[in-house]
Amino acid sequence: MKEIKFDFNNLFSLNIGKLHGVTENDLKAVSRQALAAQANLKKKLSTEASRVKLSLEWAMLPFQSRKTIDEISRLGQEISAKYDDVLFLGIGGSYLGLKAAQDALLVPYYNDFKKLRNDRPRIYFEGNNLDPDTLNSLLKNLNPKKTFVVVISKSGETTETKAAFEIVELWLKKHVGNFYGRQIIAITDPESGTLRKKVNLEHAKDGLSLRSLPLLKGVGGRFSEFNMGLLHLAIIGVDIKQVLSGATQMAKRCSKENIMQNPAYLYALLHYLLYRKKGKSIAILMPFSESLKSTADWYVQLLAESLGKQGLGRTPVSSRGTNDLHSIQQNNIEGENNKVVTFIKLEKFKSDLAMPATSGILSGRRYSQLISLAQEATEWALVRAQRPNCTVILPALTPYYWGTLLFFFEMATAFEGELLKVNAFDQPGVEGYKNYMYYKLNKPGIPQEVISQIRNHPLKKDSKFIV
Ligand code: PA5
Repeated sequence: MKEIKFDFNNLFSLNIGKLHGVTENDLKAVSRQALAAQANLKKKLSTEASRVKLSLEWAMLPFQSRKTIDEISRLGQEISAKYDDVLFLGIGGSYLGLKAAQDALLVPYYNDFKKLRNDRPRIYFEGNNLDPDTLNSLLKNLNPKKTFVVVISKSGETTETKAAFEIVELWLKKHVGNFYGRQIIAITDPESGTLRKKVNLEHAKDGLSLRSLPLLKGVGGRFSEFNMGLLHLAIIGVDIKQVLSGATQMAKRCSKENIMQNPAYLYALLHYLLYRKKGKSIAILMPFSESLKSTADWYVQLLAESLGKQGLGRTPVSSRGTNDLHSIQQNNIEGENNKVVTFIKLEKFKSDLAMPATSGILSGRRYSQLISLAQEATEWALVRAQRPNCTVILPALTPYYWGTLLFFFEMATAFEGELLKVNAFDQPGVEGYKNYMYYKLNKPGIPQEVISQIRNHPLKKDSKFIV
C-alpha cells in the first residue's frame, strides 16, 4: 500500500541557495539538539502517568479499543438513522477537527443534495462564534423535532459553546417538550466542568437524557480529533477504523530513531531550522484541494496555540491552491522572504473531469492533471525566487490517509515544541480575552490579581485617534 510522503527537496540550499535553504552544516549543527529533543519526547510519551500529566495521551488515540470504536459507531448510526439534521456546538479544538473531517471526507456539497447524503443527516456547526445572525437563521429553519444536538466542550466552560447551547436547549425545550434532552449528547471532561455537572444531573433524572461521551484525560482540545471527533465521523458514515489505522501507521513511522526516516520529526526539524537560522517565521499551508482547506484551518490552530508562546512560534496561514494563486501567491513570491510554504498534493482525486477537444491548450487534459500542474508550477516559481517550500504527498483523500495526515502534523507540532523548549499543550495566551469578558460579565470568583490587571490597563479610546 502506498504511504504518505514528505518531499523536502526545496527546503535545501541545493535548490534555493545557502542564504535561504538548509545546508548539510545547518543539519549537523542542530543534530545534538534534535537527539536531545527526541529523547525528551520519548521519555514523556513512555508511561501513561506522564502522558496524562503532560497532555500527551492523544498520542495513544490511534490505538483505541475495538469496543470503544464499535460503541461509538453504533451510536452514530442510531442518530444518523433517526434525524434529518445534526447540530454540533463547539469551538477551537472542539470544532475545527470535525469541520476538517467533514470537508475532507464527505463528497462536496453533501449538505445541499439529498442524493449525495445517502439518507444521512445534514450537518451544521454552531457555537464557533458569537455572531447572532448565523445561529438565529439556522434555528429558524431547522425542524427541532428532527434535529439532534451534539455539544462539545472539554472544559465545559467555554463562553461561545455555553451561549449557543443555552439558546439551542431553550429552542428544543420549547418545541419538543419535556424529553428534549434525549436529542442531546454532550462530549466533555469525564469529571469536571459545569457541562459535566449538568449531564450528571439530567442523566440522574432520565437515563436517556443528555447522554455523554468522555473527552479523555491528557488529551487537549486541538489534539482531540481522534477522541471527540469520532461520533461525528460515525454520524456521517466515515469508517473510524480506517482513520485510526492511518494514524497508527504514522505513529509507527514516527517511532523511527533515525530522524531522517521519521517524516513528522524531520518536518519539524527542518522548519525549526528555517525559522531559527533563516528567519522564516511564517508557515503557509497550501493544500491543492478544495476539500483540504478546512484541514489547513485545523492546522493553523494546532501550530498557533501549541507553539506561539514565550515570544516564539511560527505564524501559520491557511491557504489553498489554486484559489490563492490569485491572491497570497504574489506576496509569497515577491514579498518578504520570511515564509515556508507547505503544499499538500493529492495524487488521486475522488473524481475527475476531461476537458473537451475544443478547449485549446486545455484540450483533452483532465482537471486532476491541471491542478497537479498548477502545484508543480507554483513550486517552480517559488524555487526560482529562492523561497523555501515542501510538499506532503497524499496518495488519495481517503479516511486512512486523512488520519495519517492529521497524526503527522500532531507529531510534528509536538516535536517542534521540544525543539523550541515550549510546552506545546497549554494555551495561556487565550486566557486574557476570556478573563476580560468574565470581568465585564461579573463572573464570580475572578482572582484579585486578574481584576487588578484589568483595572490597571483599561482600554484607552481617545476620540482624536478615531476618524
Ligand atoms: O486546543 C484547545 O484546548 C482549545 O483550543 C480548546 O479546544 C478551545 O478553547 C475550546 O475549549 P473547550 O473544548 O474546553 O470548550
